Amino acid sequence: MENVILVTGGAGFIGSNFILQRMELDPASIVNLDTLTYAGNLHNLAAIANEQRYEFVQGDIADRQLVRHLLNRRKPRAIVHLAAESHVDRSIRGPDDFIRTNVGGTFALLEEVRAYWRGLADQDRKNFRLLHVSTDEVFGSLDSEDPAFSETTAYAPNSPYAASKAASDHLVRAYHHTYGLPVLTTNCSNNYGRFQFPEKLIPLMVLNARDGKPLPVYGDGQNVRDWLYVEDHCEAIATVLDRGRVGETYNIGGGNEKRNIEIVETICDTVDEMAGRRGPSRRQLITFVRDRPGHDRRYAMDARKIERELGWRPRETFESGIRKTVRWYLENADWVRDVTSGSYRQWIATHYSS
Ligand code: NAD
Ligand code: DAU
Repeated sequence: MENVILVTGGAGFIGSNFILQRMELDPASIVNLDTLTYAGNLHNLAAIANEQRYEFVQGDIADRQLVRHLLNRRKPRAIVHLAAESHVDRSIRGPDDFIRTNVGGTFALLEEVRAYWRGLADQDRKNFRLLHVSTDEVFGSLDSEDPAFSETTAYAPNSPYAASKAASDHLVRAYHHTYGLPVLTTNCSNNYGRFQFPEKLIPLMVLNARDGKPLPVYGDGQNVRDWLYVEDHCEAIATVLDRGRVGETYNIGGGNEKRNIEIVETICDTVDEMAGRRGPSRRQLITFVRDRPGHDRRYAMDARKIERELGWRPRETFESGIRKTVRWYLENADWVRDVTSGSYRQWIATHYSS
């Protein structure tokens, strides 16, 4: 078996950060399988596109023949499975793609990986790993006084996105329990950082604030998320892949619980400072809009297991991470221009018009 890691969804936000980080820190070769939906962007990976240790394959995880050939050709020792539809609001407007990719695609991948893994030599079969990247949203919503989600919290997904991720987690678990496939699952809280598609809260607010547009805060703005800098998440994934116990799940979080309104106000102040201010504070752009249907009130992650067992803990504080992130979006106007194409503008117009 070669020292090859197959990454699915590697042209997305977390995937491209993960690949760039691994190419720098790890001798492994990386194969990136990504179908390039609206959220996949090869510009993110331009710095390594021509490196010998890197290969990009455009394809769908649900295309079993393609996945079979790829596994047999590249013989990966590990798979990091990130490919998914990831935006909750889109799952509410149209869940089909979420079921197709997150459930059907994960199932197809598992079937092909199971066949590939069974055909490996003994030692290779033992060393092989499939790491499935999941989310804290599978656990549902917390009240303000509830303890944070732990690995034993019961699943209670509330959105079609969360339900599709929960279904994929269950399939991964079953493939370990029934067939012995050596899997690992990570459940992570909200990520932020460079390359995040500007339909998500933080980049959307930075760009609207930059352009003096309204900042649409859902409901009362008191919903809480636990924010983690994306590079910390990538290191956590690599740590679990290296040393995680097969069949286990690991919660990953930043220990940064923040109300949405606090995030938006911080962004306003940071953009005022970095981009300069001609008129009043950008906080004046904050506009409360109709709430997301079924909007989860609070997420919080208890990440003590990964710290205790594997020694991982986040490096970045929220204060430094958000400054780096705002600066990156302000300095990368070309990247922003590329991704805010016709289909992006149509999504924003449809979603925020109601
Ligand atoms: P993203 O939407 O930015 O990227 C997803 C990538 O998957 C895109 O490059 C897309 O082209 C690709 N893709 C979609 N369907 C595919 C298919 N059928 N076959 C192959 N490729 C396909 O998502 P992200 O934010 O980078 O999230 C990556 C993973 O991490 C997802 O599984 C998500 O559920 C999980 N996650 C995300 C967060 C977060 O805050 N963003 C937190 C926890 C877990
Ligand atoms: O918790 C992990 C999850 O975090 C990941 O699994 C998902 O893939 C990722 O998209 C993210 O989901 P959220 O729904 O929490 O992220 P989003 O950025 O869409 O929203 C964050 C919060 O901000 C949420 O409470 C909704 C609110 N929000 C979002 C948008 C886009 C607004 O108030 N206004 C907005 O315009």
